[in-house]
Amino acid sequence: FDSNSINKYPFPSEQIPRLSVADPETYRLIKESKPVIITDTNLVGSAAKWDLNYLHENLGKGLFYVYTSNTNKFKYYNSNRAEQCKSFVNPTERHHVTFPQFLQMLKRCSCTDEKVYLQQILNDTVGTNIVDDFLQFNWDWVNKCKAAFGWGQLSSNLLLIGLEGNITPVHYDEQENFFAQISGYKRCILFSPDQFDCLYPHPVAHPCDRQSQVDLSNPDYKRFPKFRNVRPTEAIVGPGDVLYIPMYWWHQIESLLSRGLPPVTVSVNFWYKGSALPDKIEYPLTPQQRVSVMRNVEKMLAAALDDPDKVGGLLRSIVEGRYTDHALS
Ligand code: OGA
Ligand code: FE
Repeated sequence: FDSNSINKYPFPSEQIPRLSVADPETYRLIKESKPVIITDTNLVGSAAKWDLNYLHENLGKGLFYVYTSNTNKFKYYNSNRAEQCKSFVNPTERHHVTFPQFLQMLKRCSCTDEKVYLQQILNDTVGTNIVDDFLQFNWDWVNKCKAAFGWGQLSSNLLLIGLEGNITPVHYDEQENFFAQISGYKRCILFSPDQFDCLYPHPVAHPCDRQSQVDLSNPDYKRFPKFRNVRPTEAIVGPGDVLYIPMYWWHQIESLLSRGLPPVTVSVNFWYKGSALPDKIEYPLTPQQRVSVMRNVEKMLAAALDDPDKVGGLLRSIVEGRYTDHALS
């Protein structure tokens, strides 16, 4: 990758460790819900040949979700909620197109400012060669991990084909993720769930639930003063790498410019449901459990008040002038 394409950010960061599948430390980190890059899983080795030509010939005639953006950012939003929310301006546009149409859109990008990003859950519309490649993923290894860490079902595999420069802005997912890089390089910037207060997510009922309101490249410190305290851990993933993104960990993912290669990045992720609740909850809660509690409180209030816009006011009435750090002492 081209090191000139690495954005500069106003915070120091640590490096995510890069370890082997054979290293016991790898499993200790995953068990502790800490990110790690595993360099030699061969998880998606059978997909190493998935360049645009091969995909064109073998993906089949199905339709794919392709997002377009007038900036290099592709902020996720819930389209059902976006439709209900009149004042919301969609940050990207979603298209349902064939693979050849996607290739046309990619070509057009070189002469406009528009960027494109294919993000499609792998399903049974793909051709037989892709199905064969998929069956040759290292299921043995991931299934063993799933069992060892007590994760729930594999919920989906998302195929991501992005243009260099594309950014998926900082957000968290409510699933465990093995993020497998196939071609090109991506910079992944992760923040632990104990930095929730620094990242100011949109309200849970907002179309951009789980997304931070802070723009990492241009943080508004007046609105988001605690963002000054963020301390991410980051890494660049390349072909063959698998990044473990623990559930509820914030992440921003940026496709880097690569010299020589075609200017696209290809990734497939493996999203797993989290582990079941333990029989006995231990205190203090983990940062992840705390986020989950906050989400449930917000959801309950939005439902009870039948109006998401009234949640903030009610929470303020409860807290302001009453609860301080020492309210009960
Ligand atoms: C994810 C994710 C975005 C990207 O896999 O959870 O946020 O651009 N991916 O790869
Ligand atoms: Fe994500």
